[in-house]
Amino acid sequence: MNENILIVGATGKTGRIIVQKMLDRGDQPRVFVRDQALAENLFGGNVQAIIGDVRQNESLLPAMDGIDTVISAIGSRTPVGKNCPKRVDYQGVENMVQAAVDAGVRRFILISSIAVTKPGHPMNCFGKVLEYKLKGEDILRNSGMDYLVIRPGGLKDTAGGKKSLILDQGDHIMGTISRSDVAALCLFALDYPGELRLTFEAVESDDEGPQNLADYFSSLARDETGTSLSASMP
Ligand SMILES: NC(=O)c1ccc[n+]([C@@H]2O[C@H](COP(=O)([O-])OP(=O)(O)OC[C@H]3O[C@@H](n4cnc5c(N)ncnc54)[C@H](OP(=O)(O)O)[C@@H]3O)[C@@H](O)[C@H]2O)c1
Repeated sequence: MNENILIVGATGKTGRIIVQKMLDRGDQPRVFVRDQALAENLFGGNVQAIIGDVRQNESLLPAMDGIDTVISAIGSRTPVGKNCPKRVDYQGVENMVQAAVDAGVRRFILISSIAVTKPGHPMNCFGKVLEYKLKGEDILRNSGMDYLVIRPGGLKDTAGGKKSLILDQGDHIMGTISRSDVAALCLFALDYPGELRLTFEAVESDDEGPQNLADYFSSLARDETGTSLSASMP
């Protein structure tokens, strides 16, 4: 039973699936949320909820205390204002990573997005979210922690486990994926023995079929140490 996992963004559509999958298998995750009532509504008394905000460093450190692995499912939902992508997907990730390093966290799993290396992509009109997500990714890749950066395609609220998945690297593919399958990838990474140090895109294929996550992961190449992608962007 895992008790030393922190889910940030646990009240989000993907975050709550991650938490539920963990509860279903007997884990007792800690969650970092802004809205205590919503967390209680979603998870009852089955999780330890820490109230905070990724824009506020002081709320993050106590949340990381004693934590082995952080899973971040946060994301800005507004293109402008105080909780825009710059504040959340970049500076919020920077704050989380710094707090995790300070607390001695071993592994950090970050849900980012497909197309982060394509500033001309229409999604980037949403407060330059792609550019800021890439900056957040870079901070994690250079943090010294073991990590996984998962870049899902467009997220869908469909049942997971139905379609075989395509995991790719280099930001060449487009597509969609079930939030449940993204959650399953996060849990597989949580349990992964040895070093991850991986960045990959994930979409579902057109084919119904088995999802052998071990095979998918074994086909991926580890990032070069100190990979910074945003520096080379136009
Ligand atoms: N939507 C897509 O098609 C798509 C495609 C590719 C990648 N992604 C990325 O995939 C991830 C998951 O997406 P989703 O749609 O499942 O997420 P979501 O439902 O929008 O949830 C976002 C979560 O982030 C939390 N959050 C926002 N600002 C915060 C702050 N300042 N401090 C702490 N928590 C904060 C929210 O908390 P509250 O509940 O308190 O608001 C919520 O729990 C995100 O990173 C998203 O950008 C999405």
